[in-house]
Amino acid sequence: MRKPIIAGNWKMYKTASQAKEFVEQVNGLVPDADKLDSVICAPSLFLSQLVNSAESSALKIGAQTMHDKGEGAFTGEVSPVQLADLGVDYVIIGHSERRQYFNETDETVNAKVKSAFSHKLKPILCVGETDEQREAGQMENIVETQVEKAVEGLTDAQIAELVIAYEPIWAIGTGKTATAEDANEACGIVRKKIAALYSDETAEKVRIQYGGSVKPANIQELLSMEHIDGALVGGASLETESFVKLLEAGS
Ligand code: G3P
Repeated sequence: MRKPIIAGNWKMYKTASQAKEFVEQVNGLVPDADKLDSVICAPSLFLSQLVNSAESSALKIGAQTMHDKGEGAFTGEVSPVQLADLGVDYVIIGHSERRQYFNETDETVNAKVKSAFSHKLKPILCVGETDEQREAGQMENIVETQVEKAVEGLTDAQIAELVIAYEPIWAIGTGKTATAEDANEACGIVRKKIAALYSDETAEKVRIQYGGSVKPANIQELLSMEHIDGALVGGASLETESFVKLLEAGS
């Protein structure tokens, strides 16, 4: 039985004071950690403050990206050593916005996933196809290739700890959610690929989230699907009320 995981991705939204207020409001409403993993992935600037604010609750804090090196002359970057030192638990790797606007490739994604594990951070690996790719019948191939390249060199034990977020790019921030069936089909493709690369047993352990216009009104149906173990949520994670509803649906 896989434990569900609901993660908010705040992207480049909120100020430090808004972030603090949000966490203080939801702290007491976060489900027990044995029922659900609840995560907020915030801008790097607030991570330290949010780790402290969430200390008394089951809410875990994640980063939205990181460099693959532990330290170095990389102006403006954040390292896995720095994140782990702050008490950050999760890190999103290879979000489509990072791939599209910041030149992340399957190779850099693989380096970052490996680095996250070696620094005791839990990676949330994002994969997903564009509208054109789906229309051209390439979804399966794109998703399989992204998964295969991202996990290259990982051990069975690491794969079992990995969270993979299937986020079709056409559904991100568009209000156009994939149907529960389409989302489940794609998440099933991810699981099948992991089974082919590792084993059925390992594939049964990996948690797969769906992301793309998830909101309180559609999360229940998505979570009821066989291969969907949680959600990675942008817009609907920014308001305390809707974030808490998402957590309730997941617990
Ligand atoms: O990582 C979450 C994401 O890209 C989906 O965003 O706003 O469609 O929920 P949104």
